[in-house]
Amino acid sequence: MNAPSTVLVTGGAGFIGSHACVELLDHGFEVIAVDNYSNSTPQVYARVERIAGRFVGAVYELDIRDRPTLSAVFDRHSVDAVVHFAAHKATGESTRMPVEYYDTNVGGTTALLRTMHEHGVHQLVFSSSCTVYGDAGHGPLDETTPPRPTSPYAASKWICEQILADVCHRHPEYTVLCLRYFNPAGAHPSGLLGEDPRGTPENLMPYVAQVAVGRREQLRVFGTDYPTPDGTAIRDYLHVMDTVEAHRVALDHLDDGPGMRVYNLGTGKGSSVLDVVAAFSDACGRPLPSEVAPRRPGDVAELVADASAVTRVWGWRPTRDLTDMCRDAWRFQRLHPRGYEGSARRPHTKH
Ligand code: UD1
Repeated sequence: MNAPSTVLVTGGAGFIGSHACVELLDHGFEVIAVDNYSNSTPQVYARVERIAGRFVGAVYELDIRDRPTLSAVFDRHSVDAVVHFAAHKATGESTRMPVEYYDTNVGGTTALLRTMHEHGVHQLVFSSSCTVYGDAGHGPLDETTPPRPTSPYAASKWICEQILADVCHRHPEYTVLCLRYFNPAGAHPSGLLGEDPRGTPENLMPYVAQVAVGRREQLRVFGTDYPTPDGTAIRDYLHVMDTVEAHRVALDHLDDGPGMRVYNLGTGKGSSVLDVVAAFSDACGRPLPSEVAPRRPGDVAELVADASAVTRVWGWRPTRDLTDMCRDAWRFQRLHPRGYEGSARRPHTKH
C-alpha cells in the first residue's frame, strides 16, 4: 500500500475534521486544512497541533464554492488526496433552509471536484451519512439498502454520492471512498477538542452536553411515540475517534484500485434518546432534565449500521462505546462550558 502523503482536509476546523487532522498528523501525513468557519473556529488548529505535536502544513479560510481561491490552494501544494468533510449536517435545519443545504453540500462538492480535476487529483474520501437510507425500517442496514432520503440534508448527501459515482464511471482514474457514518459523537480524550456548534445545537449529544454544563435548561426529546422499546428514536452513535481512524485507514486503501466504494461506519448497536440521556447523566454525575416534545420533521425511528463490510475489507472496527463517548464529550464540555470561543485564546499563526 502506498498511502498519499499530502492530504487536503475540507472542513478541517469542524467537529470531525479537527479530529481527523490530529489522526492524520499522528500517522505522518502532511495536512492542508481549509474551512470557512461557518460552524467552527480557527482556534482549533492550535489545539490540533498541541495534541499531535506537529504543525498543520497550511491553514486557509475559504469557502470551497469559491473555485479561484480553492484552485490557488491546489496550485501552492502538491495534494495527493482530499478528505471532504465541509458541509452542513443538521436534519432539522435542512428542512428550514433547503437551498442553503443543496448549495453548500452539492455545490461545494462539485466545485471541489472541478478543482481536483483541473489539478490532476483523483483520490477522494467523501463524508457521507447513514441519513441517505431514510426511513429504511428496523434492524441493521448494510450498504445494499436502497437510499430513500427524507430531508434536504439527506438528499444532498445522496446527490453527492450519485455525482461521485458518475465521475468514477466517466473517469476511471478516480478512486472515491464514500463513508456513510451513522452518528459521530464524543470528543478527543485529551479534552482539548470536541463538538462546539454555533448557536443552539441541532444534534443530540452536544445539546445534552450543554444541558449537563448548565448552558441549557433541559433537553427536548423529539418524539416519544416511535415504534421503539422506549418510544424514542434509536441511532447508532460512533465515537469521533473511531470515525477518524476509519478515514485514516481509508487513505491507506486508496491505492487498492480505482472506482467508487461505499462503506457504512457504525457500531451496529442502537441507542435511544433516553439511553443517551441516561449514559450522559452517569458521565456527569447527575440526572439530566428533559421534556417531551413533538417529533422533529425529517427524523426516522431507527438507524443502526451493519458495518461488517468495512471490517471485512479493511479490518477497521470501532473500539469505543456510548459510555466512552459520553465521558469524553463531558470532559470537553466541562473544560469548555462556553465552547472554544469562551476559552482563553491562543494565538495561531497562519502558515
Ligand atoms: C443526523 C443524520 C446523521 C448525521 C448526523 C450529523 C439523519 C436521520 N441522521 O443525525 O446521518 O450523521 O445528523 O450530525 O438524518 N434529538 C432530540 N432532541 C434534540 C436533538 C436531537 O430528541 O435536541 C433526537 C433526534 O430527534 C434524533 C436523535 O436525537 O432522534 C439524534 O438526533 P441528531 O443528533 O440530530 O442526529 P440525527 O438527526 O440522527
